[in-house]
Amino acid sequence: HWPDHVMIKEVGPRDGLQNEKIEVPFEDKVAWINLLSEAGYSYIEISSFVHPKWIPQLKDARQVASSIERKPGVTYAALVPNRKGLEAAVDTDVDEVSIFMSASDTHNKKNINKSIEETFPVLEEVVKEAKLEGKSVRGYVSTAFGCPYEGDVATDQVTMVCERLFGMGVDEVSIGDTIGVANPMQVDQKLTEWKKSLPIDQLAMHFHNTRGMALANVLVSLQHNITTFDAALGGLGGCPYAKGASGNLATDDLVYMLHRMGIETGIDEQKLKEAGNFIQNVLNKTLPSHQMQVMNKE
Ligand code: HMG
Ligand code: MG
Repeated sequence: HWPDHVMIKEVGPRDGLQNEKIEVPFEDKVAWINLLSEAGYSYIEISSFVHPKWIPQLKDARQVASSIERKPGVTYAALVPNRKGLEAAVDTDVDEVSIFMSASDTHNKKNINKSIEETFPVLEEVVKEAKLEGKSVRGYVSTAFGCPYEGDVATDQVTMVCERLFGMGVDEVSIGDTIGVANPMQVDQKLTEWKKSLPIDQLAMHFHNTRGMALANVLVSLQHNITTFDAALGGLGGCPYAKGASGNLATDDLVYMLHRMGIETGIDEQKLKEAGNFIQNVLNKTLPSHQMQVMNKE
């Protein structure tokens, strides 16, 4: 039994571009996001309001957020690490803010310069303020399947971080395999545990395809009734503060699989191709997804 519909959250403009060596011109980002809006997504993560020294690729987040065309029915979201980021998100009126932290202390420190315990009060304040501003809030939990610095991460540790985020009032938690080390059996075992204490309909999965396991991990997640997945068009992506992190699950590969399984996404494959082609030309390199490779051979 498979679901009829899956919600794909496009993270390419954020997770994808934050890991690219070249800084994509702001006009191209806007044009790309507009193409994505036309392709039928209902959710696009457009950028991050983080420190420009930490992620220079996304230093134009304010400009991007204020220049894109907002298509009705599409939720435009952005990452915020703290109050300062939230202020920018509110100023530019994004629909949803995403807070983020890791399940492992070392990655959390390398990524946001705080321990896990120090992070909770910061995020709690962000969630409170965001709610007062009428924004929905998503929480990311990174390194949930393994940390580039600490190795294995305990299933219970991830449960604890997710529970704390839900306790603050986040609307959804996205569980991240930041460095793409998860395998399907592990996803099965961990989801079996997480389901016992976390609301399955408020969980999303965020896979990276570093070792080619992302689609297999999606299949197992679908069998656990997960119906929201993060993906980046063309398989762009990665966290610059996680050694070895590479491309996200590719939206185009995910859409191909789901549509042929009779699972709807709302996304138009032809328009998705056009959007993939556009960013491929901007980045001037072949994108890693299978669909982009096929297209380049046609
Ligand atoms: P910090 O240096 O500890 O910050 O960095 P601070 O609070 O001590 O402030 C220092 C200075 O930064 C101050 O300026 C602040 O105003 C400024 P000064 O007074 O010195 O002139 N500052 C800011 N400026 C702009 N925007 C802000 C902001 N906050 C403070 N929001 C900080 C802490 C969190 C800011 C920094 O570590 C940071 O920006 N980190 C971002 C790292 C990041 O974006 N990583 C990638 C995203 S996570 C990911 O990819 C994983 C995910 O995809 C899921 C998965 O795959 O698992 C989500
Ligand atoms: Mg990621």
